[in-house]
Amino acid sequence: MMKYLATILLVAAFAGTAYADGAATYAAKCKMCHGAAGEGTKMAPAPIKGKAEADALKAINEGKGKMKAVKIGDAAEVAKFVAGLK
Ligand code: HEC
Repeated sequence: MMKYLATILLVAAFAGTAYADGAATYAAKCKMCHGAAGEGTKMAPAPIKGKAEADALKAINEGKGKMKAVKIGDAAEVAKFVAGLK
């Protein structure tokens, strides 16, 4: 029983961190097209690092050109992360 409870708590703690961490979501959902530091890839050659937070948020929620909207719970955190990339 205690072991069972501990597992649930661990999973909950991990999920909580992932939700609050824009960097982790970026790595999971954006990096494959935009590169680890927003430098761009073959998929999306134009760098997005340092992009205005509002533009990044719009791209995530509504899509932009060839990019489809990305459904994530922490879009604002990810937009902040993108804007902070150098
Ligand atoms: C399947 C590949 C793909 C994924 C995944 C993807 N993007 Fe994009 N993204 C693109 C492409 C391609 C463009 C260029 C769109 C165009 O101008 O045609 C783009 C454009 C952008 C732009 C520029 C918008 C502007 O105003 O110029 C931002 C910011 C951006 N993406 C952020 C993100 C973020 C943040 C994520 C993760 C939540 C993400 N993208 C996931 C392919 C992707």
